[in-house]
Amino acid sequence: MCSRKWEWCSALELLLLPFLVTGIPDHSEKITSVSGNNVTLQSSKKLLGNYTHSTWFYTTNQKIVEWDSSDVNYFNTRFKHRVRLDPRSTALHIYNVQKEDSSTYLLRVSNEGGSEYEINIILEVFDPVPEFLIELKEVKKVGDNCYLNLSCEIQNQSVDYVWYTDSGIFPNGHKRSVLEVNLTSSHKQSTFYTCQVSNPVSSQNDTVYFRPPCTLVRSSGVMNIINWLVTLIPIIPVLLLT
Ligand SMILES: *[C@@H]1O[C@H](CO)[C@@H](O)[C@H](O)[C@H]1NC(C)=O
Ligand SMILES: *[C@@H]1O[C@H](CO)[C@@H](O)[C@H](O)[C@H]1NC(C)=O
Ligand SMILES: *[C@@H]1O[C@H](CO)[C@@H](O)[C@H](O)[C@H]1NC(C)=O
Ligand SMILES: *[C@@H]1O[C@H](CO)[C@@H](O)[C@H](O)[C@H]1NC(C)=O
Ligand SMILES: *[C@@H]1O[C@H](CO)[C@@H](O)[C@H](O)[C@H]1NC(C)=O
Ligand SMILES: *[C@@H]1O[C@H](CO)[C@@H](O)[C@H](O)[C@H]1NC(C)=O
Repeated sequence: MCSRKWEWCSALELLLLPFLVTGIPDHSEKITSVSGNNVTLQSSKKLLGNYTHSTWFYTTNQKIVEWDSSDVNYFNTRFKHRVRLDPRSTALHIYNVQKEDSSTYLLRVSNEGGSEYEINIILEVFDPVPEFLIELKEVKKVGDNCYLNLSCEIQNQSVDYVWYTDSGIFPNGHKRSVLEVNLTSSHKQSTFYTCQVSNPVSSQNDTVYFRPPCTLVRSSGVMNIINWLVTLIPIIPVLLLT
């Protein structure tokens, strides 16, 4: 049933194993996928009996496909050319899944006797986290200290943020895209800050290094401007005085 093309199929079977063994009554399962993949939504209930009717719903009031022993009817949804029903197993193959396909899918199956059951499958689709560079929102000398406001915010995506520094995960560095720190003059060595952004399907990170008192060490296109500004700032008052 699971051909090699459907990479998520075996992952799904692993997911389903506990349900098959323990027979959880509400048959609610969850699948996580990266956008662009092919996904198979498959009932974990192996003993379907001789059902004569099956319907897949995207939401409780939007049907994707219906089957009744003679034919398969694909409804005019945005799935129309991206789904295929295997009537024998009731598996629903969805090609090229998109973020917007995330939903709680419902499979309703009934037999001649009129008995009916339903299965929920939660599908969550994520875009891979894009590559990013830490943005230096503000870098300035405050007395002997160096104030840093660093951001690695990713727009329009549900992601987790973790900031690391020399000593490991930054205190309060969890869940926040913005990191504010004061590098005190007691820092004798350069310090790095890494922002790691992840979601269930992928992860990216970027690192900046600061050398005391307030110099960005990493050189990469955009960042050089800030580096230049940071070194320029102390010069400005000197220019004004002359
Ligand atoms: C999805 O399935 C289609 C058709 O079988 C195939 O051409 C494509 O390579 C598959 N995509 C992935 C990501 O497996
Ligand atoms: C299913 O149908 C077949 C043939 O129609 C019959 O032999 C079999 O006993 C049925 N199975 C169940 C579980 O009703
Ligand atoms: C740090 O930068 C972020 C993003 O620009 C901004 O929202 C925040 O107010 C800044 N923090 C301070 C204390 O200025
Ligand atoms: C985020 O979403 C808004 C509104 O939907 C859009 O205008 C903006 O271009 C998006 N930004 C990115 C980086 O995709
Ligand atoms: C950094 O120092 C400034 C001024 O000394 C202070 O207002 C700010 O709260 C400090 N921020 C952090 C994150 O320690
Ligand atoms: C950052 O990403 C690189 C690959 O891009 C990886 O090797 C490294 O382990 C990542 N570091 C962290 C702290 O996630």
